[in-house]
Amino acid sequence: MPNNNITWHDTKVDSATRLNLLGHKPVTVWLTGLSASGKSTIAFELEKLLLHAGHNAYVLDGDNIRHGLCQDLGFSEKDRHENIRRIAEVAKLMNNAGLIVISAFISPYIKDRESARSIIGAGNFVETFLDTPIQICENRDPKGLYRKARAGELSNFTGISAPYESPTNPELRLETGQMTADQSVKIILDYLFSQKFILPK
Ligand code: ADX
Repeated sequence: MPNNNITWHDTKVDSATRLNLLGHKPVTVWLTGLSASGKSTIAFELEKLLLHAGHNAYVLDGDNIRHGLCQDLGFSEKDRHENIRRIAEVAKLMNNAGLIVISAFISPYIKDRESARSIIGAGNFVETFLDTPIQICENRDPKGLYRKARAGELSNFTGISAPYESPTNPELRLETGQMTADQSVKIILDYLFSQKFILPK
């Protein structure tokens, strides 16, 4: 609930100064796609390359966050909504702290991704759709979850017994079934440079 007795305090460092000091604009690269579409692999590789290039970056990963901050949440539509809301608030704080955030969540609902965009700020949000056919994800099945979902041992499984709503106008769309993770990472990096989220150091 909003509280009228609390006030927002602004930072003293404007975004242009921040860009020059940090060498990057705090941005959230929001990866969305089916389980096994490659979100975590791409996120951690991108984080590694950014860090080695001197840019402070941090991955918020679905499986990891569900071990802690969101361990009380399941996979109903309501719980996924709350999951994404918390992540978006954390990403916003991390962006305010000057970090590049790479988030790796299925985030299957358009309305939840749009609300993440509005919490984080449209100018700092790079929606990146890992557009991978479910057959490919299911063949990969690294955690055996598709098999369990098909066997009826796992309910509300995205793509099988719960929906995935594809982005209609993402900033980036990566067909991860047809390229390597390194190629996907390069496309994201090129975009961050071309949009001046990152300055060459
Ligand atoms: S989200 O839909 O709320 O964005 P999130 O990315 O946090 O999902 O978590 C997805 C991960 O949880 C998957 O990679 C998978 O390992 C695991 N998981 C367990 N049960 C389910 C399920 N019913 N649907 C989707 N993923 C599940």
